[in-house]
Amino acid sequence: MLDPTPTGPRPGGTPLLQTIGLTKRYGDFLANDQIDIEIRPQQIHALLGENGAGKSTLVKIIYGLIQPSEGEMRWLGEKMVLSGPSEARARGIGMVFQHFSLFDNLTVAENVALGLDGKESFKDMSARLEQVSRTYGLPLDPRREVWQLSVGERQRIEIVRALMQNPKFLILDEPTAVLTPQEADQLFVVLERLKAEGRAILYISHKLEEVKRLCDTATILRGGKKVATCNPQAETAASLARMMVGADIKEVKAPAGRKTTVPRLVVNDLSMEPDDPHGVRLQQISLELKGGEILGIAGVAGNGQRELSQVLTGLRATTGGTIEIDGGAVEAQDSAIFVERGIGHIPEDRLRSGLAPSLSVTDNAVLREYNEPPVSRGPVFDTRAADHLAHQIAEAADVAVPDFGMPVRNLSGGNQQRLVARREMRIASKVLVAAYPSRGLDVGAINTMLRYFVEMRDRGVAVILISEELEELLNLSDRIAVLYEGRVMGDFPAENANLETIGLLMGGRSQQAAPIQ
Ligand SMILES: Nc1ncnc2c1ncn2[C@@H]1O[C@H](COP(=O)(O)OP(=O)(O)OP(=O)(O)O)[C@@H](O)[C@H]1O
Ligand SMILES: [Mg+2]
Repeated sequence: MLDPTPTGPRPGGTPLLQTIGLTKRYGDFLANDQIDIEIRPQQIHALLGENGAGKSTLVKIIYGLIQPSEGEMRWLGEKMVLSGPSEARARGIGMVFQHFSLFDNLTVAENVALGLDGKESFKDMSARLEQVSRTYGLPLDPRREVWQLSVGERQRIEIVRALMQNPKFLILDEPTAVLTPQEADQLFVVLERLKAEGRAILYISHKLEEVKRLCDTATILRGGKKVATCNPQAETAASLARMMVGADIKEVKAPAGRKTTVPRLVVNDLSMEPDDPHGVRLQQISLELKGGEILGIAGVAGNGQRELSQVLTGLRATTGGTIEIDGGAVEAQDSAIFVERGIGHIPEDRLRSGLAPSLSVTDNAVLREYNEPPVSRGPVFDTRAADHLAHQIAEAADVAVPDFGMPVRNLSGGNQQRLVARREMRIASKVLVAAYPSRGLDVGAINTMLRYFVEMRDRGVAVILISEELEELLNLSDRIAVLYEGRVMGDFPAENANLETIGLLMGGRSQQAAPIQ
């Protein structure tokens, strides 16, 4: 059982953790520049900032994963030097990462065992795992293999593993980026409870409404520097965004565009059988999209969104039905052929399917145009042309890259997403399939990207926007379709849509709620 009594000093006394002038340099680049923060018990402290502002870097230093170039940390008032995460854990610091570090072919319990420093037997550890997951309402079956689990369940493993160490201070790096709204609500209940138990939480998120709801304090970083500390409950989402970006952010609403009358993408009676236990069967999906149209696909995650984007981009074979682009059928299950036909894809899981993490920024940026001039002419690969193109894509994506030769995984999470999105938008001359494109992006970057979607639409591209953010869908789409258990439940003009109708359709209630076309 976790110790439920408040740990450490009371709020207002010596901080649990203090950083003084913490600085991290990569060559000449300052990822963290003289950062001072104070973390107190019984506090949910938000860490905010644009993509690349230095949030993940700061928490990795606090967790002992990377060493600061300058500055110091104090734990309960005493100087703290960490040579690795196990020393951080020994003091009571736990962390849930932005990108998970689980082994797919091992069970839940084996994964937890690998991340713990304790010397208890595997049996005792498994029993404790079940107990902690029950206590906090985070159900997990220790015997299941990780590859069978959904993203939300995977994150639960990381949280339970951290809680099993009875942390005084828990760091969560964008935990809700991959969660459904329902899963996020469950997480907030856990975090409130941890706070009531006297623990401190450092919480990174780009979702400002949730920060306002959950957090007591916020530290805001911009360009590696701390620019403000505030009480988020006394701010608005707009004022928080202004502090992060240094300028006002305007919400994007798409003005009506000019549709061509010719269908660009026609999907007829498409079906697909899943090949993993969490996959969804697609059943008789029919969609028609004209050039210059944005079709928003709403639905609770896990209702076939991933499968639909995979079949529409040639990553998965269909078991029935047809896909036509500009009147010509695309048959092969081969993403290269879809690329040739002008279909771009912003995948939902950018690290797994959008990038090769250990290859350079340049290689990843030019990945889709590798075999084409000017990067390749016949058998000759032109390094300078590749470099030039990579710089161009990074600039358009507004990603500051200190070194194009470094592995792309060194870019911040949001900057990786920006890069993939730009790369795919370049090749999407006819159709763009964007799955949860705003996940992990800061508010400014979301707006920039949505504006690009509208521009692409106005150039005649057919855009499929899969999202859970209903406001975003309604602001941007010409038409909305709802996906429920692998079927399209409704397809209607966005002006006829309202949140309530969509909500009903998302829950599978079609007949009574279907709007009149
Ligand atoms: N190993 C490294 N080598 C070079 N630069 C790095 C390395 N690690 C991080 N950086 C750079 O440090 C900057 C800060 O990255 P960090 O991951 O801390 O950003 P972040 O605030 O977490 O952003 P996001 O919201 O996108 O997750 C980025 O520009 C990143 O490219
Ligand atoms: Mg980050």
